[in-house]
Amino acid sequence: MHVLLIGSGGREHAIAAALRSSPKLTRLSCAPGNAGIAEIAELVAVDPADHAAVIAFCKAEGVDFVVIGPEAPLVAGLVDDLSDAGIKAFGPKKEPARLEGSKAFTKELCTEAGIPTAAYGRFSDAEAARAYVLDRGAPIVVKADGLAAGKGVVVATSVEEALAAVDACFSGAFGAAGAEVVIEDCLVGEEASFFAITDGIDVLPLAAAQDHKRVGDGDTGPNTGGMGAYSPTPVVDDAMEMRIMDEIIVPTVRCLAKRGTPFVGVLFAGLMIEADGPKLIEYNVRFGDPETEVLLPRLRSDLLELMLASAEGRLSGNIANFDERTALTVVMAAEGYPGGYRKGSRIDGLDEAAALPDVSVFHAGTAARDGAIISNGGRVLAITALGGSVSQAQAKAYDAVDRVRWPDGFCRRDIGWRAVAREKTGG
Ligand code: AMP
Ligand code: GLY
Repeated sequence: MHVLLIGSGGREHAIAAALRSSPKLTRLSCAPGNAGIAEIAELVAVDPADHAAVIAFCKAEGVDFVVIGPEAPLVAGLVDDLSDAGIKAFGPKKEPARLEGSKAFTKELCTEAGIPTAAYGRFSDAEAARAYVLDRGAPIVVKADGLAAGKGVVVATSVEEALAAVDACFSGAFGAAGAEVVIEDCLVGEEASFFAITDGIDVLPLAAAQDHKRVGDGDTGPNTGGMGAYSPTPVVDDAMEMRIMDEIIVPTVRCLAKRGTPFVGVLFAGLMIEADGPKLIEYNVRFGDPETEVLLPRLRSDLLELMLASAEGRLSGNIANFDERTALTVVMAAEGYPGGYRKGSRIDGLDEAAALPDVSVFHAGTAARDGAIISNGGRVLAITALGGSVSQAQAKAYDAVDRVRWPDGFCRRDIGWRAVAREKTGG
């Protein structure tokens, strides 16, 4: 089977590595990919935003199945267009992808399906939004409705900060994404990411992970795409997983099926685990990055088979087996990220890091130049290790990170800190 993978991040490198281990795979292409993916797939210079070009490539090269990594092509309807052209793809169509494309869409679905989430208001004019903030008080969360690359959310600790966020949205700070604003109560607890795969009817839980969104140690500094993750996470034990499935994931899948717009693909729930149970913060309609770099190294089932079963509506009876060990990944980013950063600096030591037992080096923003690997983005590498505990996985991952020689790069030194602290106190 010839698979075309769309994307260029650490997530896609991890997906490519998992697809490679499937006996069903005969050829793997990736558009646009990166220097790490180039070692295990053929890179294709096709712009994923140009749906006609993607379709033409699939037809010319006999692609049997398209796997889409990032949200933008899903929200833009790539799966719809591929399906109209008779090409099978993994991921949701445009309408159910609104779960990620519009926060208001998700909040309304939560109301319709009785899914636990923060109380909210939705506004298309600044005056009404300001009045709501004044009425509810702080802390309060202000969100641009549309896709804003993770930057459209302000968790405001004061009314003034919330009002400023409202004004920023309506004055166009997030472009079209901020034409509508969702304002919601602040949830309190520990965050977790939960992943499930569905064919629109049946749902299979995959696993939970914990991301580290802030750029600095101790969860300080600005938000990023994610600086590291580990899986599984102790806040989502078996009982919590059942609640997440019963109270959040399954009602979502049922609701979308009932509407006649079934969700096919990976559902990624961003959750707050509050004292009285899980609350939905947001949905993503794809695998997470860097969560995929810890989920897939643990997956012992055939990813390609699971994705095909999802796309072909025959997920029932499948199982997803995971290694019991913990996987922990550390993201190495270019100095300056998530602000301005330089591209094109040389990275050495990757082979030495990758040769360590239970270690995988995933490339994100990398390119090859004159036989060397150079940085080509903000988040550049995700270095994953498997261990018998979070502490062990953490030690192995940082051992690998320390083999990488890249003067222009930095990473957090405390990925997994919450779980490591619990392991130390035995709690
Ligand atoms: P989102 O883009 O919706 O995932 O929001 C980004 C981050 O803002 C989340 O990962 C949370 O840390 C935080 N956040 C969003 N909504 C809430 C909420 N209602 N209560 C507390 N924190 C929130
Ligand atoms: N790690 C968060 C995301 O993929 O959106």
